[in-house]
Amino acid sequence: MKHVPIVVLDFGSQYTQIIARKLREAGVYSEIVPFSEKIEDIKKRTPKGIILSGGPASVYAKDSYHPDKEVFKLGIPVLGICYGMQLISQYFGGSVIPADHHEYGKAKLTFEKESDIFKDTKDGQIVWMSHGDKVDKLASGFEIIGTSENSPFAAIANEKEKIYAFQFHPEVYHSQEGSKILKNFAKYICGCESTWNMGSFAKEQIAKIQEKVGNKKVLCGVSGGVDSSVVATLLAEAIGDQLIPVFVDHGLLRANEREDVEAMFAARGINLITVDASEIFLKKLVGVTDPEKKRKIIGETFIEVFDKEAKKHDGIEFLAQGTLYTDVIESVSVKGPSKTIKSHHNVGGLPDWMTFELIEPLREIFKDEVRKLGLELGLPKDMIGRHPFPGPGLAIRIMGDVNRADLELLRKADVIMLDVLRATGYYDKTWQAFTVLLNVKSVGVMGDNRTYDNTVCVRIVDATDGMTATFSYIPHDILETISRRIINEVDGINRVVYDISSKPPATIEWE
Ligand code: XMP
Repeated sequence: MKHVPIVVLDFGSQYTQIIARKLREAGVYSEIVPFSEKIEDIKKRTPKGIILSGGPASVYAKDSYHPDKEVFKLGIPVLGICYGMQLISQYFGGSVIPADHHEYGKAKLTFEKESDIFKDTKDGQIVWMSHGDKVDKLASGFEIIGTSENSPFAAIANEKEKIYAFQFHPEVYHSQEGSKILKNFAKYICGCESTWNMGSFAKEQIAKIQEKVGNKKVLCGVSGGVDSSVVATLLAEAIGDQLIPVFVDHGLLRANEREDVEAMFAARGINLITVDASEIFLKKLVGVTDPEKKRKIIGETFIEVFDKEAKKHDGIEFLAQGTLYTDVIESVSVKGPSKTIKSHHNVGGLPDWMTFELIEPLREIFKDEVRKLGLELGLPKDMIGRHPFPGPGLAIRIMGDVNRADLELLRKADVIMLDVLRATGYYDKTWQAFTVLLNVKSVGVMGDNRTYDNTVCVRIVDATDGMTATFSYIPHDILETISRRIINEVDGINRVVYDISSKPPATIEWE
């Protein structure tokens, strides 16, 4: 088994993956394993350190989760975070009790003793607490190295044995210097070097894919988005022509989208299979105005088309998907690696009867890391920086019935808006920007003539993961240019409005 510098035992905290992410940022490779991992399997990874994650349970509860006790006898550094701290305390003879008040939120960490784990970080730094239990009596051999107003045992250590435990969560964003503290643990306490990077990740994934796939074939749905493009590129590097990358053109793409995607894959020597299914999709959408019905029809038609294409190729045993960590509904979690995934919208969400084994090389990383990986694989910068685009495409950006004429109108408006945003540098500053055809006609005046034409809404939002979003504060002169250009250049549109709602309560898309 491969050498893994830091092994993270997962006790079910929602933040466990962020620990691994912070270590990656520090250039240290880590693997997350279920808390119940056998000691022999942990040892095989030859770790230099072990981190015990947080978790929702109580150490004194009857069915609480405990690691193999041998982890404390391996003679390598251990860091316990929150629940992990309580496990350490309990094991070494301290005591843990329910706190009078659940402590949740920011706290000020005061150093009580100098320690390498706090090297180059500030005394009085803000840390993030989230716990219902607390340590009540110090474990034997330990001393207090940090306190907070409500936690006399905010950070404890047995420096001789190199065992550290925090009540707070250094991995979360709100812990001001938490990343540095985790890095210090890896670097000064465990002696890890910062040698790991996205290039190493690419190499590891390529090797894993080769080992798993052997001489079989892998089907991969390509949408033109960042995630599926990165997955397809990684697969192509790993298995060459054993990859069957399929791009379904449902006729609901933006202007030039199909050509751009085809050109990008061609430039890399990847034989992309484009299936032009626009006729089929558009026919099925005639007269359909209900948004959920539209999505359903598009999803089902996608599967039909995709399946038909897959059947043309023999020997496909795997399906590659661009599932990201944020798409994984249940984390690696105490039940062990979970198979439940959010149906990946960009390939429509595939049904159970498609019995391929899944390959999900991006499952443990975050969107910005996928972008870094894409750059590492040599994908063009403008492809890497692309805004998300929904699987059902422009169909959910046209209110009411979808037809070729309206699609054309929307494409023209969209391309102008994106052009202005790119020229002013706002494309890269925002999460998503698009136009919506409102199916609302209003009166206007052009020259001496009265018009009665369509309204387009411009939607531009700032977000970090799309779960919440705020409308972007785009300078008025830029909005003015967008509006003027759309109205002047697109026949059939005489009014442009800007959406000033945030999510929640609105959503990013209109349908
Ligand atoms: P909402 O509209 O729910 O969107 O605020 C959140 C994010 O998800 C994208 N989105 C989709 N992506 N298939 C997709 O691939 C879909 O059906 C879909 N619906 C919404 C949306 O563009 C935004 O980034």
